[in-house]
Amino acid sequence: MLSRLTPQSPDAILAMMDMFRADTRPGKVDLGVGVYRDASGRTPVMRAVKAAERAIWEAQDTKTYTALTGDPAFGRAMATLILGPGHDAGRLAFAGCVGGTGAVHQALALVRMANPGATVWMPDPTWPNHPTIVAHLGLKARSYRYFDAATRGLDRAGLLADLAAVPAGDVVLLHGCCHNPTGANPTAADWRDIAAALETSGAAVLIDLAYQGFGDGLEADAAATRMLAERLPQVLIAASCSKSFGLYRDRAGVLLALGAGGAQARVLQDNLTHLNRQTYSFPPDHGARIVTTILDDAALRADWEDELAAMRGQMLSMREALARALRDGSGSDRFGFLAEHRGMFSRLGASPAQVARLREEAGVYMIGDSRMNVAGLSPENVPVVARAILDIGL
Ligand code: LMR
Repeated sequence: MLSRLTPQSPDAILAMMDMFRADTRPGKVDLGVGVYRDASGRTPVMRAVKAAERAIWEAQDTKTYTALTGDPAFGRAMATLILGPGHDAGRLAFAGCVGGTGAVHQALALVRMANPGATVWMPDPTWPNHPTIVAHLGLKARSYRYFDAATRGLDRAGLLADLAAVPAGDVVLLHGCCHNPTGANPTAADWRDIAAALETSGAAVLIDLAYQGFGDGLEADAAATRMLAERLPQVLIAASCSKSFGLYRDRAGVLLALGAGGAQARVLQDNLTHLNRQTYSFPPDHGARIVTTILDDAALRADWEDELAAMRGQMLSMREALARALRDGSGSDRFGFLAEHRGMFSRLGASPAQVARLREEAGVYMIGDSRMNVAGLSPENVPVVARAILDIGL
């Protein structure tokens, strides 16, 4: 039976991590996998995380099971972080998940339970793991227009036209903020038009929210999700704690499901509980408990928000530094989009062959679609990266 298996194609992002590790050149630059790095290239454990871990270690007197959907306090804390303190808890069901990927998986598994014939509409382009999870679950996939390759901004007209035409019964996957891989995001007015298009279509929505706090701030980055959750009747939110809490390997994530409320909220909760039980029984607790400890403690939360703001500021200043270096080097404003984009990523617009040249000639690593992680930039490597980008003829 096992002999019937065929090799899987390598994951584009994780394969890049391996290539970078194998490169022995001292000046190599990692703009690949979406992991935050500070100015010295480290991915530190956040101060509030350390303090929360210490507090948990001291106070925790059992490791017995929590609930099948994880500690309810984690679900409540994340719902408040994402949807705001005034959210309608009566519409809400939630499940602790294995990181953001786990939350996306459980959301799509729930979609399949509700409508096995559903098509999942994803932005073109999207995070490469989205279409592969959709395919793995046997759901149908379609793309909607999102990115304008000429301006490196949003294809607003294409996006709105495509979303309005999605049939009811299907699901539209949106990135709540900090679009991965492009870095191009709708404005507040665009989001209102997106909500109107989705009201017309009647499709359900799945929001992938992996970078809250990495764009313009915790509140600003949640604004679109909150507005969609208020206006639309069926909203799933797959949220990750990997980036904004720096908990990558602890795999903390949550799925929030908003329906009509009342009896439907109980049915939703039942289904999420069933789904977790069939997939892994109990979700991991340690990372989730760290997050809850931070969010429920005023001092820890303030310190976390300060450190998160510093991380955001570092990424923004690196965006500006690279845009400036490219303007100086090229004598044009054609790279201004780098400073306009938000989050960890920008799609540079280089061809796969140019991306290979960056890697081979300059030791600058980015994903093949020319997605670069701006957190990999530093004051030292910005001139090198800018020179390399101009040298490949962009
Ligand atoms: C990324 O997009 O690089 C990150 O979200 C890491 C991953 O799991 O792909």
